Amino acid sequence: MTGPSTPEYLLGVDEAELERLHFQHEVWRPVTDAFLDRIGVRAGWKCLDAGAGPGLVTFDLRERVGDEGEVTALEPSKLYLEWLRKETRRRGYSNIRVLEGTAENSSLDPGQYDLVFSRWVIAFVQDAERFLQPLFNALRPGGVIAIQDYMYEGLALFPRGGAFDRIHAAVLAYYRSVGGDPYVTASLPGLFHRHGIQTLECSPHSLAGGTDSGVMQWAHRFFTVHIPRMVERGILGETEGAAMIADWTAHARNPDALFFSPIVVDVAGRKTNHP
Ligand SMILES: C[S@@+](CC[C@H](N)C(=O)[O-])C[C@H]1O[C@@H](n2cnc3c(N)ncnc32)[C@H](O)[C@@H]1O
Repeated sequence: MTGPSTPEYLLGVDEAELERLHFQHEVWRPVTDAFLDRIGVRAGWKCLDAGAGPGLVTFDLRERVGDEGEVTALEPSKLYLEWLRKETRRRGYSNIRVLEGTAENSSLDPGQYDLVFSRWVIAFVQDAERFLQPLFNALRPGGVIAIQDYMYEGLALFPRGGAFDRIHAAVLAYYRSVGGDPYVTASLPGLFHRHGIQTLECSPHSLAGGTDSGVMQWAHRFFTVHIPRMVERGILGETEGAAMIADWTAHARNPDALFFSPIVVDVAGRKTNHP
């Protein structure tokens, strides 16, 4: 998706990342499901999944809205959309729509969605307000916007004392290297307020686990791929990157290791009639 007119998407798009997204979905599914439960997504709703990737939440939303609802997946990556279309056919769904492109360049009809959902996208974009504006417009009055993304604190690996202790600053610099904001969720209630969106909730969630846990294996898939990319970008020196991977790998074999994920925040707001 990266090109002269499209800003760089930090994580890239390939088969390995597609696999990581599937794994990630399973690990964090209880958190996302509970968020959708609290929002009260119902049969017949019309939903938009913005930055849908291969549509993992798109399909969960489709389960909830049933035959009489509709879900639109908005996504710039052809590879992910190809997977999504194939899976839509395999499941025999006729009410999943696909829109290829970014939120910023989308031409969504105004006032049509009961729910606009977006998970792990907005922290990567250069201008959160530009990303959100078309999504706000696409909501019907009374509709809900629901964002799941980072407030990138809380990341920790125990026992402490090794090179991995310094990863936090590197991840912040990594997100910022493409103009992203690893604390973006903290600015959402204020941004909602300025656009006539009433904040319904802003709740932090973290997962923790040892070597065999899903959360540690999820982190393994991220750090073993992205620490080398941080080195390529000059965010970490080669020796420092190698020391961090070695420290992580030693923890991954340590039965007493404990990993804490960064905080994922569920932010939901309702569109009022008074922008
Ligand atoms: C980390 S993936 C998350 C995918 C999916 N939301 C999930 O939770 O499984 C981020 C996705 O956002 C897409 N993306 C990046 N920038 C975007 C933008 N400006 N508008 C819409 N989607 C975007 C990427 O192509 C990628 O599929």
